[in-house]
Amino acid sequence: MWFPKQLSEMAMVCLSDFEAYAKKYLPKTAWDFFAAGADDGTTRDDNILAYKRIRFRPRMLRDVSVMDIRTKLLGTEISFPVGIAPTGFHQLAWPDGEKSTARAAKAMNICYIASTYSTSSLEEISAAAPGGFQWFQLYIHRNRAVSKQLVQQAEALGFQGLVLTADLPYTGKRRDDVRNGFRLPPHMSLKNLEAAFEGDDRSEYGLPPNSLDPSVTWNDIYWLQSLTRLPIILKGILTKEDAELAVRHGVQGIIVSNHGGRQLDGGPATIDALVEVVEAVQGRAEVYLDGGIRKGSDVLKALALGAKCVFIGRPALWGLAYKGEEGLQDVLRILRDEFRLSMALTGCSSVSEIGRQLVQFSKL
Ligand code: FNR
Repeated sequence: MWFPKQLSEMAMVCLSDFEAYAKKYLPKTAWDFFAAGADDGTTRDDNILAYKRIRFRPRMLRDVSVMDIRTKLLGTEISFPVGIAPTGFHQLAWPDGEKSTARAAKAMNICYIASTYSTSSLEEISAAAPGGFQWFQLYIHRNRAVSKQLVQQAEALGFQGLVLTADLPYTGKRRDDVRNGFRLPPHMSLKNLEAAFEGDDRSEYGLPPNSLDPSVTWNDIYWLQSLTRLPIILKGILTKEDAELAVRHGVQGIIVSNHGGRQLDGGPATIDALVEVVEAVQGRAEVYLDGGIRKGSDVLKALALGAKCVFIGRPALWGLAYKGEEGLQDVLRILRDEFRLSMALTGCSSVSEIGRQLVQFSKL
């Protein structure tokens, strides 16, 4: 007798399989929090749709028998050009939370950007994957002493880069979180901020309301540079004007990002914004991208348009929700293998051969 396979027994072939699993098995409030976009979710969805408007210009007969998919991020080698974007609250996906994320990233030899809003402390993340390639993502709080202490702690623990997120002076309006009255479950906490906000009312995503500093400006990059010798990577840039300012303020990297469409709804898809940012930067800083990466061919398109590396947000959470560290490694392996195959089928045998000539914007 033939029975349809349960979702849990299905072969996991592509990232959408992990998404379906996470949607089915995560508690609704956690799924909704991970999936949320701001307002109508237009920008969140466009991050994905925009890849479909780009087509390859594949080249043939180019000996792709030996493939080299390694690259470097600010001088550090990674096994392929995908990293893990900072996302908060990994314990909502898997009990070991960010510790599992750190282990998976180390096992795959890629970069993990740990969020300020982690449910594991920076010490725990660092100890879970000693020697792993990790950057720390910072939100600047009104209480600057808290932010200063976190930056210095990250540097002392061996984090190799400081990622300043620029697109969240206030939290975007995510309707399902409002409807669900989303809060962190009582047994979880924002470990890096626990002591700083002891005793405060924590009604907003586990934080006291209005704890972030909306008065942050470009001058605060100088403030960060005075606190640390770590390279600074600015996350959330979408225009050539801001890209130019970022370079002038001496950042080493820019992440073209719209926060997975969770902040401003109606802004551009990141793959569309990438082109003007890359043109403005002209090689004076490394440019990366996140948002909507779901296939190896998306990675290839982003690299063809000038990104040095891309980062995944939600797909990493789906991998964790599936099987923790192992599930996240599965997600990364699938992306890596798809990326390698796309490279070969477009006639590139090494990352250095990927360039603008590889893509065209569809006229459809
Ligand atoms: C985020 N993002 C984010 N960014 C950041 O700088 N600090 C953070 O703490 C978080 N937290 C967070 C939580 C969740 C659940 C999501 C989905 C996203 C944004 C993240 O770094 C990245 O920009 C997007 O997730 C990329 O889009 P994709 O890959 O999710 O489509």
